[in-house]
Amino acid sequence: MPSAKKFLVTSGLPYANGPIHLGHLAGAYLPADIFVRYHRLKGNDIIHICGSDEHGVPIMLRARAENKSPQEIADFYHEKNKASFAAFGISFDYYGRTSSPVHCKTSQEMFRKMAEKDVFILKTDKQLYDPKAKLFLADRFIIGTCPSCGYTDAYGDQCEKCGSSLSPTDLIDPRSAITDAKPVLKESTHWYLPLADSQKALEQWIDKHPEWKTNVLGQIRSWFSEGLKDRSVTRDLTWGVPVPEDVAKSQDVEASGKVLYVWFDAPIGYISATKEWAREQGDPDRWKKYWQQDDTKLIHFIGKDNIVFHCLIFPAMLMAHGDFILPENVPANEFLNLEGDKLSTSRNYAVWLDDYLKIFDPDPLRYCLVNILPETRDTDFSWKDFQARFNNELADILGNFINRTLTFIHKNFNGQVPDKGKLDSSDKELKKLLSEAPQKVGHYIDNFQIRQGVREAMDVARFANKYFNDKMPWKTIKSEPEICATTLSLCIETIKTLSVILEPVIPFTAEKIKKLINLPNSKEINEWDSSGKFSLPSGHMLNKPEILFAKIEDDIIEKEIEKLKGPAKPAEDVQTEENLITFDEFSKVDLRVAEVVKAERIPKTDKLMKIQIKIGNENRQIVAGIAEHYEIDQIIGKRIIIVANLESTKIRNEISNGMLLTAKDNGQLTLLTTIDDIESGAKIS
Ligand code: 2FM
Ligand code: ZN
Repeated sequence: MPSAKKFLVTSGLPYANGPIHLGHLAGAYLPADIFVRYHRLKGNDIIHICGSDEHGVPIMLRARAENKSPQEIADFYHEKNKASFAAFGISFDYYGRTSSPVHCKTSQEMFRKMAEKDVFILKTDKQLYDPKAKLFLADRFIIGTCPSCGYTDAYGDQCEKCGSSLSPTDLIDPRSAITDAKPVLKESTHWYLPLADSQKALEQWIDKHPEWKTNVLGQIRSWFSEGLKDRSVTRDLTWGVPVPEDVAKSQDVEASGKVLYVWFDAPIGYISATKEWAREQGDPDRWKKYWQQDDTKLIHFIGKDNIVFHCLIFPAMLMAHGDFILPENVPANEFLNLEGDKLSTSRNYAVWLDDYLKIFDPDPLRYCLVNILPETRDTDFSWKDFQARFNNELADILGNFINRTLTFIHKNFNGQVPDKGKLDSSDKELKKLLSEAPQKVGHYIDNFQIRQGVREAMDVARFANKYFNDKMPWKTIKSEPEICATTLSLCIETIKTLSVILEPVIPFTAEKIKKLINLPNSKEINEWDSSGKFSLPSGHMLNKPEILFAKIEDDIIEKEIEKLKGPAKPAEDVQTEENLITFDEFSKVDLRVAEVVKAERIPKTDKLMKIQIKIGNENRQIVAGIAEHYEIDQIIGKRIIIVANLESTKIRNEISNGMLLTAKDNGQLTLLTTIDDIESGAKIS
């Protein structure tokens, strides 16, 4: 008997500033839960740790908008998300939170130890400061006009209107989101993690893991090839884990008003939550068994946007600290889309878990999502697919097989498992399939191919339905009752196997199935590895069948599709009395046709392009955020539309003298051009 393996599984801590939606579930939590439930059934030593990520600027902004404290926002979403995960059957061993005292202490200790080991570099830079509020301003707290589209409320890190990624100094007329004051530059000192120095060690460590998913290794390699940059791990904010005063003092820095960067403290949340779990178990040191012993396999389940933090930054922190193990694997998933469009919290375009659970049971969604997990590429959830999988697979295959077997036995064998006689070739084929299924399904789950694992498990139900049909027990009951008994006995064994190998994906239904077949609660019978063996003796009493999956009708699904259409457009796009302008105002804008003569990407930015244009006889330069949407040769020679009388500005040290016009639809940006080859310089009216 091989000795039990030890796993520490974490799922990315969701921010406590909004509810959980399908994208979250498919990215991290559902695959992690299936993996953990499977290992529990195998008798392995495994704990699943998660919790709320309660720091960061978005929570502060939300709190400001709702006139609440960040703690109130975090309290609300922590409780809400914890409850909806539980209702969905995500079986965490502990769901912590990063505003807990244990977390604060653990993060500060980690920072202190790293500082004592001289890991950090201190750098003093000029940063934007609100002189009225006497606060340094995080990028999100600086608002101004977007240089790409002219939107007047763009954030210092991104324009929410056109999607351009910005730095605060790109903004035209920047102002503080807190007091409206014009920010000034002021010196501030911060601690940096010298990631550049860790690159070699990280590369050597990653080289030892060629088995990691290709999407994960691909991202890591591209970070390596760009060269890792030092990252600041502190911020000038009031919400977060305070920089420990003793550390700051020993380095002659004023600690007040400085906190650890949210991405420094969040992954430490995995450690602090494990400590809290150990305390709850009455064995406060038990967390060390998982975090500090080499025989633990640490697995981080996350979405692809978290790869750099879990595969490079957190491991670099753990290496520098020295007392912790490194992840064994980071099986990050790609993104899930919804009805062909990107899920978006800000556009309220999502299926929220709480809303789903008001109408449906958890298992149908778990089953549907597992079949479309974005394991290797982005995938799409659609309500029609959900309905089809429920009706055609859960109801018609699994539910139908269980129901017809139990109904038949109650009608013909007094509800008792019949005797197994001599097995013929098709019985033997089923027996072999059952005996191999746990190992086959398990192999896929072990390799994070959870979709395929669940398909293999469902194939057992598919095969069994066909077996039932081919055996025609409704005929053999009269002509060959012993053969009929064997058939039904094997069907019950199949149901038992299914109730174990499908338990990780549909745990609520599995429990119901076990009740229906009156499965003894013994460990041997419910254990994964032996679940494919025959174990139910003849005469074992079964319970009365009941419908496990009542089909979902079209009108229910139509309603869900309708809900997604929501209000036709967000309020800011709708024309109202207040935002009408006069003709005179409009005529002040000098719109011209311009010809693109030359273009080049601005180094170290993804989005910006420097474009030379001709307006009649005049040559000009503009900077525009179109580099992610157009190649250079696609725009050379094009006649575009520009605002010619906009004050010139500097973006990334380049003069931008005018603004080109674009239209945006679902993230797709299109340059406005003319149909005919009109002369450049022509006025637009
Ligand atoms: O992207 C996110 O939602 C982050 N809150 C994930 C944090 S994962 C971990 F590091 F805590
Ligand atoms: Zn913009």
